[in-house]
Amino acid sequence: MQTTLKIAVQKSGRLYEGSMKLLKECGIEVSNGNNQLRVQAANFPIEVFFLRDDDIPEYVQDAVADIGFVGENVVKESRKDVDTIEKAGFGKCRLSLAVPKNGTMKTAADLNGKKIATSYPNILNAYLKEKNISASIHEISGSVEIAPRIGLADAICDLVSSGSTLFTNELKEIETILSSEAVLISNKNLSADKKIILESLLFRIRSVKKAKNNKYVLLNAPNDKVKTICELLPGMKSPTILPLAESGWSSIHSVIAESDFWNVIQQLKANGAQGILIIPIEKMII
Ligand code: PRP
Ligand code: ZN
Repeated sequence: MQTTLKIAVQKSGRLYEGSMKLLKECGIEVSNGNNQLRVQAANFPIEVFFLRDDDIPEYVQDAVADIGFVGENVVKESRKDVDTIEKAGFGKCRLSLAVPKNGTMKTAADLNGKKIATSYPNILNAYLKEKNISASIHEISGSVEIAPRIGLADAICDLVSSGSTLFTNELKEIETILSSEAVLISNKNLSADKKIILESLLFRIRSVKKAKNNKYVLLNAPNDKVKTICELLPGMKSPTILPLAESGWSSIHSVIAESDFWNVIQQLKANGAQGILIIPIEKMII
């Protein structure tokens, strides 16, 4: 029988779409039309398990699933014995302290003697200890944001992504405790066969992530500017230079990092580049 790698994905919520999109970009076809608990990929030896995100570290630790996409915040809070092997490139968020917008509390120190509602008691407890704040923690598993309004707590410690949950509940952030994003975690004792599948999946994930961080650039330049422009464009090896039909001009092709993008474009223009085209890269294998 062929080995399959079991991958846990959040069944609904912030990380579901990012996880499924990444698998798709890796060329892995998973259909979850019928709201099933587990689905075998059509063209890659993995089986996807749809689970509650908070349960994923435990399932991976206990080898119910071999690997899983989950927030770093959940991994840290769960204290399970799993390996974090790769940032997944989506699901950026932060765990923050928030208080009623119109109240008097302004800093974390103002929480002394107060009650904080959270689903992250371990992380919050460590933070309060480190900062020498003595507040009581009220653990609740969901809808933490309504706790201050119903008199259950004075403040909350919860995940913030777009900030809209805080906004609708008239809360304001006063301190970030942890920055987080989705990661791929793995069971510590994968068989050799499963490790081979994981390596092949990781190769695809890294190619997708690299492509997202880079852009393909095409531009035209007068021949006497080609050398200067090429120095601005490091590329994967060195830029490609092709003569244009119009004599005295060349077309230059290269790859630049998304982070350098605006800076480099300005310099290219200043050095005589024309007709600059920036094209997204789908996969990047190096
Ligand atoms: C978090 C948090 C808020 C929401 C914040 O939930 O509990 O409800 O996301 O996002 P926003 O700033 O974009 O409004 P999470 O995704 O962890 O879901 P869960 O609590 O159901 O696990
Ligand atoms: Zn959750």
